[in-house]
Amino acid sequence: MPGDTRPIGVFDSGMGGLTVLRALCARLPNEHFVYLGDTARLPYGTKSPDTVRAYALQATHLLLSEDVKMVVIACNTASAVALDALREALAPVPVIGVIEPGARAGVAATRNKHIAVLATESTVKGAAYVHAIRRLMADAMVEQLACQVFVALAEEGWADTSVTTAAIKDYLEPLFAHPGAPDTLVLGCTHFPVLKAAIQRYVGDAITLVDSADTTAAAVAETLATSTLQTDISAAPRNIHFFATDSTERFARIGAIFFGREIDSGDVTLVDLKMV
Ligand code: DGL
Repeated sequence: MPGDTRPIGVFDSGMGGLTVLRALCARLPNEHFVYLGDTARLPYGTKSPDTVRAYALQATHLLLSEDVKMVVIACNTASAVALDALREALAPVPVIGVIEPGARAGVAATRNKHIAVLATESTVKGAAYVHAIRRLMADAMVEQLACQVFVALAEEGWADTSVTTAAIKDYLEPLFAHPGAPDTLVLGCTHFPVLKAAIQRYVGDAITLVDSADTTAAAVAETLATSTLQTDISAAPRNIHFFATDSTERFARIGAIFFGREIDSGDVTLVDLKMV
């Protein structure tokens, strides 16, 4: 019995969510995936909650038209402002966001209960991480830092350039300028894991950097295991199809940096979400 062989839908505003897809592929070797990056409308992180919700609804409808069995919102901004609306609109299809898993990773890592969350402007404004972390650790001290320029650097593939180093210093210096600094940084944006090595070098090895990719993959695996949605044996080799709302060539080229392996531009379809 092959179980439910329908794909899992993964959505992000751009290519950053490929870091989550990478963790999902590692954790769930038998599952098929459809990934949508709304590259034409990125960034979401500077847009109003209403706009992000409208975009996310359009995006997830495209995924539903691909007959996905579950949706992963691999975008912190969309998870922060649109998760409830998406769950309501997509029911009974399960929808999993990245904020709760990211908060769990931060709480598991901290020793001094002082966590800083690096995210987009929109995620910081809504304070979704602060609420999620405090639900798990009521006495945690949580600082937030909007690092919007990191998104542009990551989308450019500038993982470790002199400009990247300068931006990291400018953003993070104030966090460590006072005693009792955080011991854990949550990379609360799907794009930031690409800059992880450069950030780690700046903050030093005593600070733990966590992101939501692995914990989100664990949450998806748990949901699959407790439902009838799991694929037991994949009859065919794993299939991943990509959709992008802007250049498929660029998606394949830059996306490979996030995904950690080659993406064939023939596997990427250009889509206009306003037409879905
Ligand atoms: N995907 C967004 C997030 O994780 C970052 C990029 C954007 O601003 O759209 O918050």
